[in-house]
Amino acid sequence: MKIILLGPPGAGKGTQAKSISNRYSIPHISTGDIFRMNISQNTPLGIEAKEHMDKGHLVPDEVTINMVKDRLAQEDCMGGYLLDGFPRTVFQAESLQNFLTERNEKLDTSLLIEVPMEFILERMIGRRGCQSCGASYHIKFNPTKVEGKCDVCGSDIVQRKDDVEETVRERLDVYERQTQPLIDFYKERNLLSTVDGTEAINEVFESICTILGSKK
Ligand code: AP5
Ligand code: MG
Ligand code: ZN
Repeated sequence: MKIILLGPPGAGKGTQAKSISNRYSIPHISTGDIFRMNISQNTPLGIEAKEHMDKGHLVPDEVTINMVKDRLAQEDCMGGYLLDGFPRTVFQAESLQNFLTERNEKLDTSLLIEVPMEFILERMIGRRGCQSCGASYHIKFNPTKVEGKCDVCGSDIVQRKDDVEETVRERLDVYERQTQPLIDFYKERNLLSTVDGTEAINEVFESICTILGSKK
């Protein structure tokens, strides 16, 4: 299956992606995670991405698209994949459509996790994440079993640098201007499914499985 996760920052894309990737045995490809990994290793890509991410802005399309195409051409993507955080602009979405067409492939669906803006700030500011394995937690909605330590791998959990209020507001603004148009892009192509992301984490996952079950 080839799936795209859409939704505003803090909608729960990363949280749901981990479960979907396990259930359907497809790789979870998060452009944000790839950028953060490059930042922690201080690669040229990481240095460029950091400049934009710290301000809450998008990394330029050309850099992002080339990175994703390289990733999708890898062997583990042959049986499908789950994209989290890509595409994020209409240009990225068009590039992905062209990439798929060239390879005689198509998307199964894009899945929009719908969460109204008033929920987002609390989710983002309370979010903590594992730097080693990428697991995502929330101090109130999804706390770790041992305070400050990842349930999966035991590493320290930290707050993302772009999860401070001012940057979150900028990211939400960027989402509305640059990413929201993708909802219509996929709707027009009959490739949009929507779930209510305000439910509890496991309930959102059940709704997603119902949708994906009907696509198999
Ligand atoms: P990215 O890492 O993709 O961030 P984002 O889209 O802003 O989304 P988040 O990761 O913040 O939210 P999420 O939806 O994954 O939510 P999560 O599951 O963690 O991108 C970061 C930056 O990288 C961008 O700003 C940009 O600079 C750059 N970038 C990335 N991709 C790019 C691209 N394609 N083009 C250009 N630039 C790009 O959940 C959030 C919190 O809520 C967690 O604490 C979680 O525990 C909690 N939570 C989740 N679900 C629920 C629920 N149902 N109920 C209660 N709490 C919940
Ligand atoms: Mg995420
Ligand atoms: Zn971990």
